[in-house]
Amino acid sequence: MLKIEAEGRSITIDPLPGAMDPSPYTEFLIERIVARDSVPREVVDVGCGSGALSIFLAKLGVKQVYAFDINDAALEATRKNTRINDVSDRVDVRKVDFTESLDSELDVDMVVSNPPSLPMRSKPDSEYDMYNYYGGEDGRKFIEKLIDNSPTVLKRGGRLLFIHTSLANVGDTVEQLPSSGFDSFDCSVSELPFRNSYYEHIDWFRELKERGVAHYEEPDDGGRETEYLYALSCEFSG
Ligand SMILES: C[S@@+](CC[C@H](N)C(=O)[O-])C[C@H]1O[C@@H](n2cnc3c(N)ncnc32)[C@H](O)[C@@H]1O
Repeated sequence: MLKIEAEGRSITIDPLPGAMDPSPYTEFLIERIVARDSVPREVVDVGCGSGALSIFLAKLGVKQVYAFDINDAALEATRKNTRINDVSDRVDVRKVDFTESLDSELDVDMVVSNPPSLPMRSKPDSEYDMYNYYGGEDGRKFIEKLIDNSPTVLKRGGRLLFIHTSLANVGDTVEQLPSSGFDSFDCSVSELPFRNSYYEHIDWFRELKERGVAHYEEPDDGGRETEYLYALSCEFSG
């Protein structure tokens, strides 16, 4: 069992095979959710994985969380973990492909997401990497759809809060936001050393960095490269 703690609240996650375990990305997003002044009433968690964000939101006092994922293993893990944490009555787990055009009855205050967003030169062989990490060549394949489709479930004045690695093309994301109705945003930044799995893609990251569309710090002491994590909070004005 994994434990995540923030602001005196603690949740327990049973890591099931095939579903992504909570990561430092997840913890950074939880930190930003907790730092907000008010608790939203209804939230959609896009790409819920093992359910950590959804469960934390329910524990914070959100009345209704909708946990979306495309991967059956993630849906099963989220359902199990909501029961372990005693919040299954407030987390509605649904199989949704958020890259498809959506027809939704929802009108929530907030969409949160830790999207798959690692830039890769080609599609990974493993289904796990495909679901959890693959962000297309520039890392924005899913993010682009997240921004386009969130207004379908968000009320006017609501917020989209998501994690964006500096390895994906942040400039294009900032350009896209206004065209989807997000006219103001703020950004918190954190730094993270590269995970072991990143080194499979290091040649591609280097190429993107040279082109000026990915950013990370080179180590000066034989240590690891460092990526920046941005938590972008964007208001939907319609
Ligand atoms: C990086 S993981 C984040 C998991 C969890 N939210 C967390 O922070 O630990 C990305 C999640 O997005 C899901 N996902 C990938 N493509 C999706 C799609 N088209 N629609 C909905 N969810 C998707 C994956 O299955 C995975 O659970």
